[in-house]
Amino acid sequence: MTSPLNEWAVEADGLVKVFGDNRAVDGVDLRVAAGSIYGVLGPNGAGKTTTISMLATLLRPDGGSARVFGHDVVREPQVVRQLIGVTGQYASVDETLSATENLIIFGRLLGLSRLEARAKAVDLLERFGLTEAAKRPLKKFSGGMRRRLDLAASLIAQPPLIFLDEPTTGLDPRTRGQMWDTIRELVATGSTVLLTTQYLDEADQLADRIAVIDRGRVVAEGTPDELKSSVGTSSLQLRIGGRDGGAVLGSDLETAARAIQRVLGVTAAPSPEGSRLTAPMADADRVADLLITLREEGIPLVEMSVQKPTLDEVFLAITGHDAADQAESAAAELQEVRA
Ligand SMILES: Nc1ncnc2c1ncn2[C@@H]1O[C@H](COP(=O)(O)OP(=O)(O)OP(=O)(O)O)[C@@H](O)[C@H]1O
Ligand SMILES: [Mg+2]
Repeated sequence: MTSPLNEWAVEADGLVKVFGDNRAVDGVDLRVAAGSIYGVLGPNGAGKTTTISMLATLLRPDGGSARVFGHDVVREPQVVRQLIGVTGQYASVDETLSATENLIIFGRLLGLSRLEARAKAVDLLERFGLTEAAKRPLKKFSGGMRRRLDLAASLIAQPPLIFLDEPTTGLDPRTRGQMWDTIRELVATGSTVLLTTQYLDEADQLADRIAVIDRGRVVAEGTPDELKSSVGTSSLQLRIGGRDGGAVLGSDLETAARAIQRVLGVTAAPSPEGSRLTAPMADADRVADLLITLREEGIPLVEMSVQKPTLDEVFLAITGHDAADQAESAAAELQEVRA
């Protein structure tokens, strides 16, 4: 059924989905190589879930076409469904049953024998670090444990392609790290993963390639390094301290920003919390001059680093607004709709 020679797990060409007069997905092209982790990165309302839903045959595209391992999502939905797993769709499992029981039920529904289903359940719970909690009823599971059980359930059939829609949103950092490990393991054992995320560092950490999507369109595509280098070679970060244990002075920040402008010839952006300055930098050699200037000006410096630009900065450079901007305007729109 699936040709191992088919190098593309996903090929989407000009996908469109329109809700009323909202072009939620407005001509999306994607190529996801088999055996890779592909990240679709974008803020609230960018069209990530809508795109995945079309690829997973849950929504019918209004335009364009898409294939999963060569099978058209509109013409061959049954074949496509056998090749994919989508997480999040198992949210309504029985709350009073244990994790093991839930997984066994899914296994049975998928046609496994009782013994096979049990073996699979035990194996998956172990793989997802849920063995301890195996006998607990689901209603006593934390959000992170549920998320992992969801993922485990979607893997009973071991699909070659797994869609993960914001797999770590709302998880604490430790659980997030475990989820990342799990995702890497899935790919190491032969699956392809297409995940959506609003977290720039998540895409950076996990994905082999990333599509940045904004307002229903792919605005940039490439490896994390390619996307980062598209905004410049490096980024200077300075953190200013307070004087005599006090708060950071606005005047110190201004003085530092002026020094950066004068010495490096670039404009520094202050961070929202007001103690950091970030500036694009072409010439790392000049940093020494900057440090001397800052000392002469008596600026209390706590931290200084030169690094590759973050994906946040990439997003800003590509779209002209930062990711949070749009989330805010989406929230404002929602408020208007509700009012
Ligand atoms: N069933 C629907 N009916 C009408 N509009 C919809 C529907 N689903 C999504 N939309 C709209 O389509 C746009 C894209 O939504 P989508 O859920 O795909 O975004 P997203 O990138 O997944 O966002 P989030 O990060 O918040 O999950 C939004 O403007 C949303 O309001
Ligand atoms: Mg979504």
